[in-house]
Amino acid sequence: MTRTVLITGGAGGLGRAFALGFADPGARVAVVDVNVAGAEETAALVRERGAQALAVEVDVTSLESTEAMAAEVAAFGGGGIDVLVNNAAIYAGITRSPFEQIDPAEWDRVMAVNLKGPWLCARACSPHLREGGAVVNISSATVLSGSEQWMHYVASKGGVIGLTRVMAKELGRRGIRVNAIAPGFTLTEASYALMEDAASYGVDRAALKRPSQPEDVVGAARFLAGPDSSYISGQTLVVDGGRQFI
Ligand SMILES: NC(=O)c1ccc[n+]([C@@H]2O[C@H](COP(=O)([O-])OP(=O)(O)OC[C@H]3O[C@@H](n4cnc5c(N)ncnc54)[C@H](O)[C@@H]3O)[C@@H](O)[C@H]2O)c1
Repeated sequence: MTRTVLITGGAGGLGRAFALGFADPGARVAVVDVNVAGAEETAALVRERGAQALAVEVDVTSLESTEAMAAEVAAFGGGGIDVLVNNAAIYAGITRSPFEQIDPAEWDRVMAVNLKGPWLCARACSPHLREGGAVVNISSATVLSGSEQWMHYVASKGGVIGLTRVMAKELGRRGIRVNAIAPGFTLTEASYALMEDAASYGVDRAALKRPSQPEDVVGAARFLAGPDSSYISGQTLVVDGGRQFI
């Protein structure tokens, strides 16, 4: 499929899996991250699959940085962008603590990257998004479970669902669909950094008795970014092996 797909936070983990998942022959995949070395590595893997790739350094918390990034990706895309996957976030590095003890500075940092970041990236990409395009925002199933001792992360990902719904209405007038994915616990490097027993965490509580790999989430992103979901917008798709039901 020849389209231009922009993945934020594509240096590793789920973002790298999304970039590879969109690497159809002829596609243009832009991998953007604050970790530009990781983004370059992902871009090289995308090229091995026969797609064109561009790596761009971006700080999603910065208006200037996101606007420069969006302009560079649009030029790479022949004057536009078809798909934005808002995946960048702070995840593993967050301190887990009761809400009364969360450091306000860490709260602000989480909100800046996880909530303001997707807004700024969408804001910067909006003028470049082609009619019929799609935005896929990565939320989290922790919003459904109310994961304890992680209020700032959970609140930021709840906010992502809110901005998905507003953007769906505002961009829908241009034929652009906006949806969210709420992945359950998924085995990325960040997840292993978060907990030692990552491989078995939560498996018993899901309908499917196996852990989630990043590739398990890719199909949902392709579906929400592609023609098979042409009349779906403003929705949140839970991809957690059947642990939460909404
Ligand atoms: N892994 C899971 O279990 C899981 C579950 C639910 C949701 N998620 C969400 O999926 C996404 C990816 O998670 P992951 O496990 O791959 O984590 P990850 O830490 O590997 O990926 C996050 C990426 O965002 C980038 N990033 C961080 N701050 C940035 C900034 N200011 N500007 C640009 N890029 C920045 C990081 O460099 C990193 O490459 C995140 O949104 C996370 O919240 C993950």
